[in-house]
Amino acid sequence: MITIKSERELDLMRHAGMLVSKMHQFIKPYIKAGITTKELDKLCEQFILDNDATPTEKGYEGYPASICASVNDTVVHGIPNNYKLKDGDIITIDVVIGYKGYQGDAAWTYAVGEIDDDKKYLMEHTEKALYEGVKMVKPGNRIGDISAAVQEYAESHNLGVVRELCGHGIGREMHEDPEVPNFGTKNTGPRLKPGMVICIEPMLTFGKRYVYQEDDGWTVNTEDGEPAAHYEHTVLVTEDGYEIFTPRLD
Ligand code: MF3
Ligand code: CO
Repeated sequence: MITIKSERELDLMRHAGMLVSKMHQFIKPYIKAGITTKELDKLCEQFILDNDATPTEKGYEGYPASICASVNDTVVHGIPNNYKLKDGDIITIDVVIGYKGYQGDAAWTYAVGEIDDDKKYLMEHTEKALYEGVKMVKPGNRIGDISAAVQEYAESHNLGVVRELCGHGIGREMHEDPEVPNFGTKNTGPRLKPGMVICIEPMLTFGKRYVYQEDDGWTVNTEDGEPAAHYEHTVLVTEDGYEIFTPRLD
């Protein structure tokens, strides 16, 4: 069931989304060679708690941390650990923050120091693919319009579209209906209505689109070892278009 949120709920979600944006802004200067992903997790968790909010990922189906920290060929759900970032890495920080029971969710990929042109290309076009999807958000359009726009943009830039994971509705729960795949067909799927809130989150690869999950039950990596990027926004369907609840503050 796809829920339509009330104005009161939307205000709480706006607040949760803004905390997600602020946390990304807060953590950005720490993303440098030498810091471990575990240290980043600790800093983010403290930021969330200091803002009277909840790190929703922690404990979700047993997930052990407050952020996902996915380095290079890790696509999503990298568990923070003792790996020290080094120059030339890319890292995706993906976080869900709860405020008074309502969730905000956004992921960004960051460069550590100077990165090569391939990684720059991957990051630039994964973020643009996200906005191609976001632009399709308006009442009357359908989920398939978003999916097709993301896929079209990604594949025309020779990037692989990971199919095993997709975007989702969001509200009280971090994952609600509908599913928002990053591939699909225009004019198919549920129709968008004002008051729906969805997360659009292309996960694109520089090489082939195939992925596997590690034995930890979480970490998803590209099969060919090529890097992946991931950008995500929480987006409200408004009367005449969309509102991004997790705007970039940089
Ligand atoms: N933030 C992810 C998403 O975009 C989900 C995280 S899974 C968790 O849907 F286990 F880390 F919580
Ligand atoms: Co999400």
